[in-house]
Parts: sequence; C-alpha cells; structure tokens
Amino acid sequence: MTPLYQIVHVETGRPYDVVIEGGVLGRAADYLAPLARNGRIVVIADANVVAPHLATLTGSLEAEGLRVEPIVVPSGEASKNWRQLEALTDRLLALEIERGEAIVALGGGVIGDLTGFAAAIVKRGCKFVQVPTTLLAQVDSSVGGKTAINTAAGKNLIGAFYQPELVLIDPEVLDTLPPRELRAGYAEVVKYGLIDDPAFFDWCEANGAALLNGDMAARVHAIATSVAAKARIVAADERETTGTRALLNLGHTFGHALEAETGFSDRLLHGEGVAAGMALAFRFSVSRGLCAATDSERVSAHLAEVGLPTGARPATNASGETLAAHMAHDKKREGGDVPLLLARGIGQTFLAKGIDLSEVAAFLNADDA
Ligand code: NAD
Ligand code: GLY
Repeated sequence: MTPLYQIVHVETGRPYDVVIEGGVLGRAADYLAPLARNGRIVVIADANVVAPHLATLTGSLEAEGLRVEPIVVPSGEASKNWRQLEALTDRLLALEIERGEAIVALGGGVIGDLTGFAAAIVKRGCKFVQVPTTLLAQVDSSVGGKTAINTAAGKNLIGAFYQPELVLIDPEVLDTLPPRELRAGYAEVVKYGLIDDPAFFDWCEANGAALLNGDMAARVHAIATSVAAKARIVAADERETTGTRALLNLGHTFGHALEAETGFSDRLLHGEGVAAGMALAFRFSVSRGLCAATDSERVSAHLAEVGLPTGARPATNASGETLAAHMAHDKKREGGDVPLLLARGIGQTFLAKGIDLSEVAAFLNADDA
C-alpha cells in the first residue's frame, strides 16, 4: 500500500523534488517560504482555479507573513500564445521580479507551460514552482521541464526546456476537476504502464475506476508511479536526443492527427486523443504482426471501460489519408521520416522508423473503431 505522502526526485541537469501529498496546498508555505523574496510570492493562476483553490494557497502563505501577488490568466489552450506571454512577462517585470524569486504556476498544463516559458526568459531565467491542478499536469506536464506556447504554425512550437525548482502535487485539488478532464488525464497514467511497466497496467485495470471515483490512496499511487516513470525517462534523455524520452509520446502521433482534425477543440481533449492514439498504435502494431491481438484488446477494453475513446470515431470520420497527412507534420519528423511509437506487447513500446504513411492511411481506413 502506497503511503499518502511521496517524494520523487528528478535527476536532471538541475535536480529537484516532486512532493505528492494530500492537502499539501494548505501547507504550501512549508515548501515555498524559503523561495520567497521581499516578503512575497507571485502566483500565476488559471481563472477556473482561483475560486476553488487560490485562497487555500494564499492562506498558507499569509499565515507565514508572506504576501501573495496573484496574476490570473484566462483558462484554456488559447492562453498559450504570444499575447498572454507578453502580458505575463510585462506583469512580472512591473513587479520587479528577481531571478532568485520563485514564480508559482497554479493550474493545469496550460498555466504550467506558459508560466514555465515566461520564467525561462524573464531576466534570462527565474526560479519557478509547478503546483499542477489537473491529473494530466500532475502525472505529465509539470515534470520534465518542457515549456511552450502555440503559434499559427502549430502547438508547442515555441518554447524551452526549463526545469522547475520544485513540484507540489495535491491530489485533493482534483476533486473540483470536471470528470471528463479527470478521465482525459487518466489516459496519460495508463500510458506509463503501456510504455514499460506491465505490472502497473495490471494495477490500472484493477484500480483505474476507483481512482476516477475519488479513491485518494489510488490517486497517490498512480501519481507517484507515473511521476517516477517520467522522472526515470527524463533523467535518461532530458532533451529528447536519444529516443528514450520519445517513448512518452506513445499514442501522441495518432492522437495529434485526431486533435488537428477536430481543430484542437472540446470535441476531443488532448488526453482523449492520446487514449484513442494508444489504442490505434496497438492495433497498428497487431496489423504489422508485432503484437498479440489479446494485448491490444486488453488496452482498448480498459480505456473503453473508463469512458475513454479507442479510435478515431466518434470524434471524426476523416479518411486515413487526411489523418496520415496530419501525422506527416509531426514534431518528431526527421529527414521526411515520421517515427512512430509502436508496441510488441503491453509494457513493450519502441520507436519504429521508416514506416510508410500510406500503410498507416490504409490501416486507418480499414479500422472501424
Ligand atoms: P488545462 O490546463 O487547459 O486544464 C483543463 C481545464 O481544467 C481548464 O478548463 C482549467 O481551467 C480547468 N482546471 C484546472 N484545474 C482545475 C481544478 N483543480 N478544478 C477545476 N478546474 C480546473 O489542460 P491540461 O489538460 O491540464 O493541460 C493541457 C496542456 O498541457 C496542453 O497545452 C498541452 O500541450 C500541455 N502539455 C504539456 C506537457 C509538457 O510536458 N510540458 C505534457 C503534456 C501536455
Ligand atoms: N509529455 C512528453 C514529454 O514530456 O516529453
């Protein structure tokens, strides 16, 4: 049984800890007070998170005599743009932020990516702390140092590798997250089992529903296991140069094509695209004779059981050729080749190169899920 308090150490160029603890938001001062300067902490908060959670964080800091400078950012993917970045960096400079002063990101992946990038460039680098409030951000985006904004050319194309000083994860804040967002984040949890930890996939099959229904011990176990897996992979390949970190993209190339086709809209959340993409990657692996059909069926059955999509439909009826054309623009593209994350079984994901996208298009046309 996992204790309700866990620390995972991330051994990057500049190492840091990820603290996972129920209720830690209300004790945040224990961790943040040493990072305060001039008696204050600057908090960049998602507008939707302000009402349910900002006062808890502020209360803890004020009890230690610290002042909070909140900067509220509109919720949603659209905030990861040049305009919000400029507005945020202008506010930070107006506050005369110091390099040694930690900027706190309170929100999901949108706020973490935007704040992390602002922290990377203001005064050529300020300290920052991630306080992720979505399951997706708690198990993935808050750890590993990828920060970015979107432009007309695509998602996450402008950014920096910039590690946080600390990550504080309170699984209790997930109680206010809409169930659909919670499920979407759970797809990234399942991903770690599918990459290289079949025992964790077994655990997900047995405990995923309890986690989604609010079981705190299950949440802490899933978050700690996911963060430990991500920490291990990021430590091995911090800047995604050897192919190891690319394993974290399981399901993302298929999923990204579905997200692009649905306009990166509420029709398909990122985690839903990842779930559909993982199921497609397994079925495509079966079609190439790489993976047993029983493993692929287990993956789809578990995702479907918790209410996640397992194929292109119903999000889109686009043809295989249209989806493959989106895949051709993948960030991992190298010399015209789009490497794909495929599987030899549950927990046996690998990076496959030299796959003809016309084969993928034909597979997608024949796939009816
Ligand atoms: P998000 O930040 O948009 O949050 C999802 C929704 O939940 C938003 O409406 C938000 O306002 C709301 N919300 C957040 N916390 C809440 C809470 N506790 N209670 C109620 N509502 C809450 O989305 P996300 O899924 O967290 O993150 C997606 C972003 O993360 C994308 O931009 C993606 O590119 C990025 N990402 C980055 C990495 C990385 O390694 N840096 C990895 C994966 C995804
Ligand atoms: N979410 C993919 C990565 O951090 O590399």
